[in-house]
Amino acid sequence: MLHNNVIDAIGHTPLVSLDLGGAAVYAKLELQNLFAMKDRVARQIILAARESGELAPGAAIVESSSGTMALGVALVGTALGHPVHIVTDPRIDPITLAKLRFLGCSVHIVDKMTAHGWQGARLERLELLRAELPGSFWPRQYSNPENPRAYATLAAELLADLGHIDVLVGAVGSGGSLCGTARALREKLPDLWTVGVDCVGSVIFGQPDLPGRLQSGLGNSLVPANVDHAVIDEVHWLNDREAFQATADLAAEQQIFGGNTAGSVYGVMRHLARRESPGTTIVGIMPDRGDRYCATVYDEGHWLEKDLHSMPVATAPVEVDASQTVSTWSNCFPGQRRREVRCEAVLPA
Ligand SMILES: Cc1ncc(COP(=O)(O)O)c(C=O)c1O
Repeated sequence: MLHNNVIDAIGHTPLVSLDLGGAAVYAKLELQNLFAMKDRVARQIILAARESGELAPGAAIVESSSGTMALGVALVGTALGHPVHIVTDPRIDPITLAKLRFLGCSVHIVDKMTAHGWQGARLERLELLRAELPGSFWPRQYSNPENPRAYATLAAELLADLGHIDVLVGAVGSGGSLCGTARALREKLPDLWTVGVDCVGSVIFGQPDLPGRLQSGLGNSLVPANVDHAVIDEVHWLNDREAFQATADLAAEQQIFGGNTAGSVYGVMRHLARRESPGTTIVGIMPDRGDRYCATVYDEGHWLEKDLHSMPVATAPVEVDASQTVSTWSNCFPGQRRREVRCEAVLPA
């Protein structure tokens, strides 16, 4: 596939059929982007800001992130000739750090938490940088409407490949990917059923905050403006062990070496494949590759250090109502819609 530049090469990711028995299940391999799923978001936000004049040619871009958003901004920002400043903290993994540095970003690592944790320290440093760099642009992925808008391209790719989709599954961090893709798909498929995947200890869907949670990418300690609760029909929470185990299973069973959010999406899709009727088409978004997680999700030493083996684990979700606090795999139906599903108990495991 020929592209004129790296920015045009963003997206066009493979869609792979997974044989899980039961419903037809597909994995949208966003991990096949140059860096990851957020390459799409960085392209959309930066091009829109250049178009509106908010980002002048050659002006700096500053972002606080230690993950996929930092990589996307590094890719698109430097390709368009902007100095890119990434604010992060000591928890950043060495692979991401090397990528950022060798793309030419200035990486600012805060060394102390504030009363608002690492996130607070990063935002304080970001404000200082913005004051030092007049005219600099901050993408603000949690509230910028260009984040969900970026997924119109992903929805169009799915429609071109499949024509019809019944169920969309995605991890929720900023909310951009799941809500943006679902909103775009619903213009053609108003009955689309949308399943959000979160972690135990994230407040996005009303759970109490557990700051020590180990999963990255999904979950949050505050509810981002880009989470559009109105488009999410079903929510699943997995604890750290369940998420990491599903990530290991994704590699062992499907040869897809993904990050923990891809793993959680896979775990939920395995369940939905059996729950939904065989004519149903299910698509799950796989955000990033597993390389960054070699010292955590994929490291037995990390499992031992964090005592993951002794954490309780469920092999299917327990349905709860939104007010119950969960500690193992659970799901709820927060909206008005309900789904007619087959009884899982009568099906072979
Ligand atoms: C690896 C990974 N998966 C999933 C997500 C969640 O995506 P969104 O922010 O679109 O909700 C993120 C967000 O940063 C991520 O980095």
